[in-house]
Amino acid sequence: SSALPSGYSIRPLQRGDFDFGFLDVLRVLTHVGDVSKEDFEKRWDEMKAGAGGYHVLVILDGEEKIVGTGALIVERKFIHHLGVVGHIEDIAVSKDQQGKKLGLRIIQALDFVAENTGCYKTILDCSEANEGFYVKCGFKRAGLEMAHYY
Ligand code: ACO
Repeated sequence: SSALPSGYSIRPLQRGDFDFGFLDVLRVLTHVGDVSKEDFEKRWDEMKAGAGGYHVLVILDGEEKIVGTGALIVERKFIHHLGVVGHIEDIAVSKDQQGKKLGLRIIQALDFVAENTGCYKTILDCSEANEGFYVKCGFKRAGLEMAHYY
């Protein structure tokens, strides 16, 4: 089936989601730091809820607590006939909610947004440990990541 568990829902990140555990879900993924509600809202405003190419989704459990998240950034190019490429970033599911297909549902929803915003492909970076998850989501290994840290 392609449904979320009963009572769960998926929707775009809202400006008030600081209070619903959004940053705690991201702490499953990596270091988040001490981000205030004001900081969060400022960044949310910058992302303008999709208009700037940012599509951040959250999954809520039956108690309206955020238990999963993921982002699609839609990049506009000059190449490939003004092509548009999707970038999947920051996928995280709460530790106690993993294995319920929530990660898969987030990727499916972001894929839907990517296809409907005209992306000709969607790409992402992940660790070897997560390769199997993305293969199950329909992705395949391509390319090599390089990084320059400042
Ligand atoms: N390796 C292999 N297979 C996996 C893995 C894995 N690491 N994780 C899940 N799967 C499989 C599941 O068994 C399931 O297979 P099935 O359909 O045969 O039953 C399928 O993938 C879908 O799994 P979900 O239940 O949707 O996975 P979950 O909701 O637990 O989310 C996630 C997976 C997002 C990787 C989660 O474990 C998590 O939050 N991990 C910590 C943060 C993280 O590493 N995020 C990804 C970073 S990469 C990026 O953001 C671009």
